[in-house]
This record gives sequence, structure tokens and C-alpha cells, in this order.
Amino acid sequence: MRNSKIAGVGHYVPEQVVTNKDLEQLMDTSDEWIQERTGIKERRYFTEGVDTTANMAAKASRKALEMANLQPEQIDLIVFATLSPDYVFPGSGVLLERELGIKEIPAIDIRNQCSGFIYALSVADQFIKTGMYNNVLVVGSEIHSSGLDFSTRGRGVSVIFGDGAGALVLTPSESNDKGVLSTHLHADGEFAEELAVLAPATNKKDRLTHEMLEDGSIYPYMNGNMVFKHAVTRFPEVIEEALNKNGYKATDIDMLIPHQANLRITSYIQQKMGLPAEKVMSNIHKYGNTTAASVPIALSEAVQEGRIKEGDLVCLAAFGSGFTWASALIRW
Ligand code: UT7
Repeated sequence: MRNSKIAGVGHYVPEQVVTNKDLEQLMDTSDEWIQERTGIKERRYFTEGVDTTANMAAKASRKALEMANLQPEQIDLIVFATLSPDYVFPGSGVLLERELGIKEIPAIDIRNQCSGFIYALSVADQFIKTGMYNNVLVVGSEIHSSGLDFSTRGRGVSVIFGDGAGALVLTPSESNDKGVLSTHLHADGEFAEELAVLAPATNKKDRLTHEMLEDGSIYPYMNGNMVFKHAVTRFPEVIEEALNKNGYKATDIDMLIPHQANLRITSYIQQKMGLPAEKVMSNIHKYGNTTAASVPIALSEAVQEGRIKEGDLVCLAAFGSGFTWASALIRW
């Protein structure tokens, strides 16, 4: 079986910058609290009529395609991860296809929240390994800002999330020692409601009621402390799993790209894995938590900044709603 490799990466974030000070105008919060508890200084919010989940994905994808030296019509498959699709249905994969001006190739939509991009990468990798497809576009794109509770009731969640998109192009690797070495996916539905948006709900006769609007169940709910505790266990576990599978140890990692959930979580993982700060990517201060877009945005920025070079061992890892968690080990 052949390996897949990353031939191009790209990202796009909307222009509107929203600082912690801006949020202070909307709810009882402070720049100090947000920076101290999360590491976030600012995030990007979409502009209605300009940005959509699908067109931000297209902008990130075009950059990834350019780096891969491919045209959109050379893509065989789209795998699109998002928790904030443009519509309830159809999924955003077909909309991205339309944005890119391509037709008839399959588009798969992935619903695994913060781990969604690594799930998507794993799906793409399997299709390349089996020989079914050659050039696969893997995308994570999110618009959170239109679905957050900006009153003080929602402050524990709303200050964290931001909008953005990231993409990569996966192609067959010339060598089995190069490219995606392995991917590792996990889920535990026991904690499904600990980080979730529960309404509108198909299991209610009236999917959307005034009560849901008023009680806030249309907004994301997060049991922050509990999610935090699971995250700091699962991240190191799933990174170790990837290292063990390939006979490496933590110190062999040249660049670790964790999902950007909270700077305190990233710092904990860095210390636990015994890695120096420069080997762990962090950009949460600029973008907040962009769920499925966070890993590809961070990967794309790391490449852009020249922090990943040929032959480097790169590890991607994520944890989030579901709970779901995942990792990928890549020889660049
Ligand atoms: O991406 C998917 C996975 N997500 C995560 O991994 C997120 C994991 N969780 C976290 O990152 C943290 O739990 C949070 C950043 C969400 C919260 O930080 P925390 O240190 O766990 O704070 P807390 O929820 O324990 O709240 C501490 C206090 C509370 O006040 P009292 O009860 O001590 O008086 C909150 O009401 O901080 C208050 N608080 C705020 N204060 C100002 C909560 N949110 C805010 C806010 N501004 N935005």
C-alpha cells in the first residue's frame, strides 16, 4: 500500500479582528481574564455577505492547490470537516466544489468538531492508500461568531471561539518513509452533551421553539473544567499512540501541531511531552479556537513561517466535542 503526502497547505481568516476589549463591551468579561485563562488576545469574525464557511474553505483551498501546483479540476475527492456548515443540508463539501468550479467528484462531510480535520485527513489517507483516489483536498472551515451567546450568560464559551479556514492537498507519496505515517482516531459518546449545541433538535416535534431561543440551548454549551481535564489526558495519550506505532519517542518530534483549544492545554502538553516551546505550534492568541479549522491553520502558518522543513517529523493532535480525539504522524 502506498503512503500519502501533503503536497500543499493554505489558510484563510476573515478580515474582521475582534479583541478581548471589544468583547468587554458586550458582556461582563475582561481582557485580563481571557488572556490568563485561555491565552487568546483576539480572534477573527466573518462579515455577512462576504464570508461563508464554504467560500473561506475555497480561499484556503486555492492556496493549498497553488502550493501543490495543481488546478482544482485535478482534485479527485473533497473531504470537508466543519461543525458550522452553511446549511443544515446539504453539507458544505458540495458548496466548496461549486466554489472551486469543479463538478462530479465526490464530497464527503465530516462531523467530528475539534478533531474533525484529523478525521478528514485519515479518511483522505485511506482513499490514497487503497489507490482509489490520487489528489484529495482536505478542508476545515468554521463560522462560530454567528452562533454565540454574547450576553454574560455565554461568556465561558463565547470568548474562546473564532472563525477561519485551513486546507491541505494530499497526494500519493513516492516513498513509504515519507508522508502520513499513521493516523489514530478515537471517540467516546458518554460525554456527548458536555460540549454541544442541543437545539434546534430533530427529536423534538417543534425543532425550534421560542423557549430554545430564550433558554440559550441554541448556543454551544461547554462544561469547561471537565473538557479541560479530559483534554490534558487524551492529548498526550493519542500523541504517544502515534509515536509508539512508528517506533519514535516524543523528543523525535520536530513540530507538534495541537488543536488550539487553550494555551494552558498546549503548555501542559508541551511540558508533558518534554518538548521545547519552539517545537509546539501556538497561534491561539491571534485566532482563538477555530475547531476543525485550527489544526490546518496552524499547520499552514508553521509552513509559511519556515518552521517545518523537509524530513521533519510532524505530529498533529486534537481533542474536542464528542468526545473525540485523534492524531497523525507525518514525515515531511
Ligand atoms: O476545543 C474543544 C475543547 N475545548 C477545550 O478544550 C476547552 C477546555 N476548557 C477551558 O479551556 C477552560 O475550562 C475555560 C477557558 C473554558 C474556562 O476556564 P476555567 O479556568 O476552567 O474557568 P471556570 O469555568 O472554572 O470559571 C472560573 C470563573 C467562574 O466564576 P466563579 O464561579 O469562580 O465566580 C466563571 O463564571 O470565571 C468565570 N468566567 C469568566 N469571567 C470572565 C467564565 N468565563 C468568563 C469570562 N470572563 N469570559
